[in-house]
Amino acid sequence: MRGTVRQGEDDRGEDQRGENRLIADLVAALGADHVLVDRDLTAGYETDWTGAFTGRAAAVARPASTGEVAAVLRVCAAHGRPVVPQGGNTGLVGGSVPAGAATGAVVLSLRRLTAIDPVDTAAGLVTAAAGATLADVQTHLRTAGYTIGVDLAARDSATLGGIAATNAGGERVLRHGMTRSQIAGLEAVLADGRLVRRLSGLPKDNVGYDLPALLVGSEGTLGVITRVQLRLIGLPRARTAALIAMADLTAAVNLVALLRATVGSLDAVELMFDDGITLVCDHQGLPTPFPGRISPVHNTPYLLVECVGRTDPADELATVLETAAGVLHVAVATTAMDRRRLWTYRDGHTAAVNALGVPVKLDVAVPLTRITAFVDDLPALVRAVTPSARLHLWGHLAEANLHVNITGPDRDDTRSRETLAGAILTRAAADGGSIGAEHGVGRAKMPWIGMSRSPDELAVMTAVKHALDPAGLLNPGVLVPPYGIGRAADPALP
Ligand code: FAD
Ligand code: MLT
Ligand code: ZN
Repeated sequence: MRGTVRQGEDDRGEDQRGENRLIADLVAALGADHVLVDRDLTAGYETDWTGAFTGRAAAVARPASTGEVAAVLRVCAAHGRPVVPQGGNTGLVGGSVPAGAATGAVVLSLRRLTAIDPVDTAAGLVTAAAGATLADVQTHLRTAGYTIGVDLAARDSATLGGIAATNAGGERVLRHGMTRSQIAGLEAVLADGRLVRRLSGLPKDNVGYDLPALLVGSEGTLGVITRVQLRLIGLPRARTAALIAMADLTAAVNLVALLRATVGSLDAVELMFDDGITLVCDHQGLPTPFPGRISPVHNTPYLLVECVGRTDPADELATVLETAAGVLHVAVATTAMDRRRLWTYRDGHTAAVNALGVPVKLDVAVPLTRITAFVDDLPALVRAVTPSARLHLWGHLAEANLHVNITGPDRDDTRSRETLAGAILTRAAADGGSIGAEHGVGRAKMPWIGMSRSPDELAVMTAVKHALDPAGLLNPGVLVPPYGIGRAADPALP
């Protein structure tokens, strides 16, 4: 018995010495100021934006260059310690924090890699370090008369590296596609320190596998992205936004098809409902958009439409809306201030819902032909599991992407939360939809990944991961089951 106790003490002592050696080697690589171990300093890196995922990190490493990123990976590999890459920590599927299989990992924060290169107008490209925020890149480009085809409400914190690593969607996918289609090149450090670097800016360069495209959407599991090159978009001269209250969701879906077919300047079509807008108004102390004109009985759907062009697109949009079926009320915004006001109703949803408690956060795609029936059936699906839960719906209607959030079940009520998620994701998959439209899989959607990818596809993904990261160093538990270093570190495994 005493021997066993002493053995435990020896193990703990050895663990502590191992931890100390890891920290000492990280400090040797980055300097003491950029290796955080104090709980007050690491806490903000250890819990995700929603508050659903949390875990202790061995340390937070804050490199300032590609070379320092490679050094951190080498140290962690030598110590058998997993690594969780992190940008702005705005990800919504738990992939950016050292939780689950990655508990005790080193968080590799990219936030010190912030340099943005001068705008390359000849090639039509901008290149920036992975830790530059989307808002900083947008500001940098605006002064030169450009923007990029990616935008989302987390723009002030989300980084280019995180946006690339999640292949983020957002509010401009209708015209520009997902992030992958805006990325012209990138630089990434693989788990063993090798570099993938495709930043030539050449639009034609067909020489073998498209490795940058493979890294886009890899959620920190295949490499650490250090630089991102994006296509420039000319800043539109004129913009018009319109908030449109619709008779019902079928009319909203039909209006999307009509706008797509007839309004060439169409740039965004976002979906909200009256209860969501009311929640945002309560959260931010805003007036409702159509006071006294919306029936509180019927949960009216709204479309937020934006058109852009060289000349004012307001007339083009108004002409279509005047005769479109199911349009109840329209608020048009042509000034920047009025447009921002309308977009606040849309962009305020995530924070307003989170203020009610840690939501069950789902992000599905359902074919537009089935989306009305799906939405109609959701309240009963939710009630069957948790009668008192509250359902929140919004999304990117042009891309058939619905954000289904449920508040009510306690953060630690794993059973109710997983039953709810399982029921809704099963229904989305049965409708020919996707269990992860734009946020990715992370840790949150791993139990259901097989609903959207076949066993053969999952086996290929696993083979790719093992080929690029044979030791299992990077973000264990995300996208493929943990193995090697990741499995050895998983506290839940024997
Ligand atoms: P993080 O959260 O830090 O990381 C996300 C994932 O990428 C993790 O798996 C992490 O390991 C990995 N990662 C991060 N940086 C790197 C890197 N340099 N190299 C390798 N891997 C890396 N998403 C959408 O698609 N559309 C939206 O409309 C949208 N709106 C949002 C609105 C709000 C208010 C919030 C909070 C989030 C929203 N998101 C949206 C989630 C979205 O995924 C992120 O905002 C963004 O893409 C993540 O960037 P980040 O820098 O915060 O990455
Ligand atoms: C959105 O479109 O609002 C985002 O993807 C964030 C979310 O789903 O909360
Ligand atoms: Zn979204």
